[in-house]
Amino acid sequence: MQSVIEILTAKVAEAFKKCGYDLPVIVTVSDRPDLCQYQCNSAFAGAKAYKKAPFMIADEVAAALSEDEIFSKAEGVKPGFINMTLTDDFICKMAAAMAEDKNLGIPECAKGEKIVIDYGGPNVAKPLHIGHLRSAIIGQSLKLIARSMGADVVGDIHMGDWGLQIGLVIAELSERNPGWKVFSPDFKAGDEVPELTAEMLNEVYPAASARSKTDKEFSEKAHTCTFDLQNRREGYIALWKEIMRVSCNDLRSNYDKLNVDFEYWYGESDADKDIPELMDILEKKGLSYESEGALVVDVAEETDKAPVPPVIVRKSDKSSIYATTDLATLIQRMRDFSPDKIWYVVDNRQELHLKQVFRCARKAGIVPECTALEFLGFGTMNGEDGKPYKTRDGGVMRLSDMIQTVTDAALARIDEQGNVTENREEYARKIGMAAIKFGDLINHRSKDYIFDMDKFMSSEGKTGVYILYTVSRINSVMRKTDEKGRFIAISSDTERDFLLSVINSPECWKNSLSEKAPSYICDNVYNLAVAYSRFYHENRIIDEADENKRLTRLALSALARDMLVKHLEVLGIEPVDRM
Ligand code: ARG
Repeated sequence: MQSVIEILTAKVAEAFKKCGYDLPVIVTVSDRPDLCQYQCNSAFAGAKAYKKAPFMIADEVAAALSEDEIFSKAEGVKPGFINMTLTDDFICKMAAAMAEDKNLGIPECAKGEKIVIDYGGPNVAKPLHIGHLRSAIIGQSLKLIARSMGADVVGDIHMGDWGLQIGLVIAELSERNPGWKVFSPDFKAGDEVPELTAEMLNEVYPAASARSKTDKEFSEKAHTCTFDLQNRREGYIALWKEIMRVSCNDLRSNYDKLNVDFEYWYGESDADKDIPELMDILEKKGLSYESEGALVVDVAEETDKAPVPPVIVRKSDKSSIYATTDLATLIQRMRDFSPDKIWYVVDNRQELHLKQVFRCARKAGIVPECTALEFLGFGTMNGEDGKPYKTRDGGVMRLSDMIQTVTDAALARIDEQGNVTENREEYARKIGMAAIKFGDLINHRSKDYIFDMDKFMSSEGKTGVYILYTVSRINSVMRKTDEKGRFIAISSDTERDFLLSVINSPECWKNSLSEKAPSYICDNVYNLAVAYSRFYHENRIIDEADENKRLTRLALSALARDMLVKHLEVLGIEPVDRM
């Protein structure tokens, strides 16, 4: 369905035309709600073209608009604004139409688009740390936003499962257990493979990584293991598969708790089969050349303000690296999906890497111009000291520990309030997740933010808990009646204000999609919740004696709940029916 801004834009454009002006028209929600609900400043653009004072044009257009019965007021205001206010009847009808719409009036403006989102990006064998939290929750949210606006979206986790970290783990395990058959050069399919556990991997990787920094021989061994793995040495592949099995189970359980899912669990290893083609293309196009033993491609451009170094596509030891697998993955993505867009939800600090990859992919013709490659960087989650969030003892915070911490805090809160007695754990998980997800997503993704548990858990202010609380409050109203609401007429200012925020919501969704930033959805759901709360405090609902008022308020409450839940849904936040 058309949004109110779209309807107004069409009407104002028609009025301009009727008055003899051919001008591009923009209508926005008014930034002076005390004066009007909507405004249009396009008369200013007409001043030059038509050699007329803008207010004269504005006056004429406003007069033409006044004839339309959707406006209670349309006026030209000096020096040239067109201010518009809708009738309550139109606002009410618009809200009713949105309530009926299968997408609640959220525009499906991304229909027909195919989008691949690369997010999550965990590294196999390394424990998930909180840096991976942001990619997962931002990526999941962008996927759901684009999907609910009509796009065909698939998410690919793009695991780091083929690089040095695996070589380190293999090297460390082989030092500790030299007798394992998988390390023997004559290992063959069917030979015994040791069973690993997540706890083991969590201990082995940090030990190996620390050792490689001081022990040169060990570090070389890890590189050799990486190279041999990439060249499919059988014992290593068997061990790698076991590492993958354990790691993926562990990852899945963490992502499940976050309510984050992926259509494709591909890893860098899956790109391996496309590497020969990649190398072939780069060579045939004369793009790759040897430099200090490595194979590189120049990607600098004349207009670069900061230097963009050549991208390394094969190291001097002949093993493939991060950029190699990212480029080969693009071959696979184009072949399998031929998407219109590929979005990378990756830490800001990897911007240069992806810039190099994108440029190389364009130069090589792997990705055509009509497919957009977009780096959607995100900032760092900091502790209260403004430095990357750490555990109390200064270590890197594990994602699983963080999930436990918030769940515990939510449980303590539930028990303190005493409203929930059954399924406490499940409620606690949902509330805890709402707190951290909203606390993260409310910030524009590109910004750093401070993780502040007390703030995120507060039931007041821009928090997930406040939104959940508002939903559960509406639920408790609805539980008390069987009556079905109907939009009949607006009878109070707070009703009008709330419904205006509803009918203005589509523009926030459009902004969120065009900027690829869930923060717009967070701001909007907060505004809706605040407007509903004001309405709730000032009006009777089920015990209102006047039937028209009562039915309208019930319909408004049902719409409020549906809208809030729809916003929460795309933020990846599950509502609770009581709190
Ligand atoms: N595994 C990487 C890391 O932990 C993130 C992967 C991002 N995606 C990509 N296509 N490079 O830093």
